[in-house]
Amino acid sequence: MRTYDIIRKKRDGGELSEAEIKAFIDGYVSGEIPDYQAAALCMAIYFRGMSVEETTALTFAIRDSGERLDFSDIEGLRVDKHSTGGVGDKTSLIVAPIVATLGVKVAKMSGRGLGHTGGTIDKLESIEGFCTDLPIAKFKKIVNEVGIAIVGQNASLAPADKLLYALRDVTATVDSLPLIVSSIMGKKLAADDDCIVLDVKTGSGSFMKTLDDSRKLAELMVAIGKRAGKKMRALITDMDRPLGNAIGNSLEVVEAIETLRGKGPADLVELCVALAAHILCLADKGSYEECEKAAREAIASGKALKTLADMVEAQGGNKEWIYNPENFPKAKYSFAVKAKTDGYITGVDTEGYGVASLLLGAGRNTKDDEIDMAAGIYLCTKTGDFVHCGDTLAWLYSEKESAFAAAEKRLLEATRISDVAPEKKPLILDIFE
Ligand code: URA
Repeated sequence: MRTYDIIRKKRDGGELSEAEIKAFIDGYVSGEIPDYQAAALCMAIYFRGMSVEETTALTFAIRDSGERLDFSDIEGLRVDKHSTGGVGDKTSLIVAPIVATLGVKVAKMSGRGLGHTGGTIDKLESIEGFCTDLPIAKFKKIVNEVGIAIVGQNASLAPADKLLYALRDVTATVDSLPLIVSSIMGKKLAADDDCIVLDVKTGSGSFMKTLDDSRKLAELMVAIGKRAGKKMRALITDMDRPLGNAIGNSLEVVEAIETLRGKGPADLVELCVALAAHILCLADKGSYEECEKAAREAIASGKALKTLADMVEAQGGNKEWIYNPENFPKAKYSFAVKAKTDGYITGVDTEGYGVASLLLGAGRNTKDDEIDMAAGIYLCTKTGDFVHCGDTLAWLYSEKESAFAAAEKRLLEATRISDVAPEKKPLILDIFE
């Protein structure tokens, strides 16, 4: 079938066959199919959607577009945890050391910040000397010896996603369910893990803004993972509030360290313990209650913090920074954002908080931008708190004093304050398995 005919079939609402999808992806990666035809197909998929069969075929074609990793020389059960992207989401830095401490192997490939959301690789690079680009043999050696290693996405893995993602980013086709599912799962399935736990974010700070869409996303990713022979679980978690108090790279690493020291903010602790317990359950380490207890003990005993420090050392980082987080460089300037009125914080536009953090220098506006590792936001108040006019809502940090005015404006616009206390909303909204 001609490329033209494949595009036309999807444009007219037809169902593509597995062979047509594979031919398209292979042709795009080899350079035979140009960007403009791939962009046209993405737009057709955006408007017409895809059946479960088509989405599965697209995921497998993306998975098979490059190298498939072989982790069979990593001893024991291998797990991965993946978040669909949020604001203040430093859970991987906490959950991965907890479960590795308790005997499951974490061979993790993570991403960089995307849009208003942060990325684990950028956060880890705020630790002096930490290397996120290791040869695969060294990566596996560290997983075997320490139980955990976290590196950036290998360039030879799922190259179709790399090309498609860049194209979707500039053609307004990111927020399409089949395209998100195939992008995330295509990459995950190219790695060789036994169990995958997904943290599907929902709400204003995530790519999926409604609970309904997030449920569809979770259900589909779990189904496709199972078809590929993986043990799967997905939690839907609230991103109508930033997670924890810190937003920004080194600020988030320090908050992760504090959490592993037993001094984390309540929402972050709740989610990390739940994610760790679900991973451990999936890895047959006991009942949910037993796994939850074990996760809390891994924090209380200091063992999970040691696992993080050992991983940092094995990947070339300065482990003293993990035991003494005051070593992380501080931003040159700070600024207190004050409440302009009395009242309850009834809700926030989390994406606005993410954008304020970008304005301070914590993320990239173009793909070549340098990140200011110490830039970001520390929240002194969260949804549900009562504030008085003049109370500090948050501290802003940056190397650029000139960035404060725009970031303050964005943060204040994103914070709703009213006389009536809001209803408490659970953090974990649903679970799919
Ligand atoms: N993360 C990805 O890797 N891909 C998407 O499409 C969205 C979030």
